[in-house]
Amino acid sequence: MQVTPLQGAGAEITGVDIRHLTPGEFAAVRQAYADHGVIFFRDQSLSEDEHIAFARRFGPININRFFQAHERFPEIALVLKEKEQKTNIGGGWHTDHSYDAEPAMGSVLVARQLPDAGGDTWFASMYAAYDTLDASTKAEIADLQAVHSARHIFGSAPDNHYKANRDTDSRIGNAAAADVLEDVTHPVVIAHPLSGKKALYVNPAFTTRIEGYTDQASHELLARLYAHAMNPAHAHRFKWQPGSVAFWDNRATWHWAMNDYHGERRLMHRITIEGCALN
Ligand code: SIN
Repeated sequence: MQVTPLQGAGAEITGVDIRHLTPGEFAAVRQAYADHGVIFFRDQSLSEDEHIAFARRFGPININRFFQAHERFPEIALVLKEKEQKTNIGGGWHTDHSYDAEPAMGSVLVARQLPDAGGDTWFASMYAAYDTLDASTKAEIADLQAVHSARHIFGSAPDNHYKANRDTDSRIGNAAAADVLEDVTHPVVIAHPLSGKKALYVNPAFTTRIEGYTDQASHELLARLYAHAMNPAHAHRFKWQPGSVAFWDNRATWHWAMNDYHGERRLMHRITIEGCALN
């Protein structure tokens, strides 16, 4: 088994069948995940049951509240865009579940049907984003907390992200559960629960403000952090192929699904693994 760090973010792991990881391979995969924040596998052949079994080795599965589920496997959330639909899921920089008090650890995404071209996913390293901040910004954000919510994304108000895009109605639901979400706060800089490394933990989709800052100051700081974190030098554009699997850590990366394949169907199976409170 070989772990090859990729330009910008993540690592590709080759020479392994993730259906049958030995204890030694499992430990090495887990270490690569902690070190690189996102790991990629090629040429895998996972049934739904095997996908679930792989994810369960890393922790309990989070049943997604908002995504359409696989009709036979509720553990699997569908990330789907039909050929006549225009809006994709995850089409902007974000990290999943930061709106939860104990954000999900990460997700295992398996390609099931891909467009002939396009539909890549970008991943950005929040380890690198933090490490490359200047010293005065690091000092400014060291003890700050940020507020996160998903009400404006998954909630029922007509101008919320998915409600404003009616062609996602069959794929994104349960808006009532989003409407009653309480705001949560997390440190702007976390110590990663697996690696202990510092990571920037704010994101353009779900972070709503910096606690204790005025709206203007909060907006300015977040805009500055986002512009820095979006630097392509900290990011990797992953090109999916049949058999590709990506396993990302929400606490160490952002991701962004490109929406450049109108007229074609793209179906991914996503399993999300529970996480923990962040410090
Ligand atoms: C997501 O989970 O945000 C979607 C990722 C993708 O479809 O590539």
